[in-house]
Amino acid sequence: MNTYQDILLGEIEQSVLTISLNRPEFHNALCNNLLKELAQALDAASSNADIKCVVISGSEKVFAAGADIKEMAKLDAIGVLQDTRPQYWDTLRKFKKPIIAAVNGYALGGGCELACHADIIIAGSNAKFGQPEINLGIMPGAGGTQRLIRTVGKSLAMKMVLAGEVIDAETALQSGLIAEITQPEATLERATKLAQQIAGKSAIAIQLAKQALLESFETPLETGLSLERKAFTILAASEDRQEGIQAFMEKRKAVFKDV
Ligand code: HXC
Repeated sequence: MNTYQDILLGEIEQSVLTISLNRPEFHNALCNNLLKELAQALDAASSNADIKCVVISGSEKVFAAGADIKEMAKLDAIGVLQDTRPQYWDTLRKFKKPIIAAVNGYALGGGCELACHADIIIAGSNAKFGQPEINLGIMPGAGGTQRLIRTVGKSLAMKMVLAGEVIDAETALQSGLIAEITQPEATLERATKLAQQIAGKSAIAIQLAKQALLESFETPLETGLSLERKAFTILAASEDRQEGIQAFMEKRKAVFKDV
């Protein structure tokens, strides 16, 4: 049963949970409560072994038009300092299972940052990514100056953040921001299929592979390679590795048990 107000939880299907942002009248603007509920839903998903992958989506027309500007307007410097939002973003950042963002329409400001928190972005041809905070006399505050530049490179990130220019799905694909473009009506379905594909693998291998990939943003190559080797070694102790290799030898599909 959905006990949330600003997000909708789908049924868990093939180990995939879909979380839909649900403030259509405000272009899914990320109010405090929406972010809080998203963090709560992810916390619950963390400890639910039936969930191996999460899809976050908006609607067919809009992913999220950023932080709720009307709510933001009420905060002074102390209010921003004491804001609880950074802890909600942290929940997203620390979530160990893969997250796929299904993005149609506007992903602006905090909406673009939310998509950038995902591990994979699948976007509809109508998607528009931007960090327009500069038009409000502010700047990105949930990773928009850090994650975006590491993903799309300096020049494009500077253009988006300093000029507030919005990019289309094609540019997002060329720059590596997104993995695929779909028809808008097929975005959620494609993201879900991909999530189910991932969920069919060993959860231990998925978790360690995600962790190793994300470490590449944090560490020098030598350290990253060493972390990768350690994770690779740990996997040698899993039953799933034995099953995966055995299944290959026997020319059958592996059945992973996440142990
Ligand atoms: C609050 C918003 C909103 C937002 C839209 N709405 N975006 N409310 N916060 N970010 C509301 C509008 O006020 C309006 O409600 C309704 O949603 C529909 O929006 P319109 O503007 O009428 O729609 P449209 O003409 O289609 O324009 C779509 C749009 C525009 C281009 C996306 O809404 C827009 O520019 N939104 C703001 C985008 C933005 O600046 N994002 C960055 C926010 S700052 P009412 O009731 O008024 O009719 C940010 C900082 C992140 O994200 C920091 C993280 C820590």
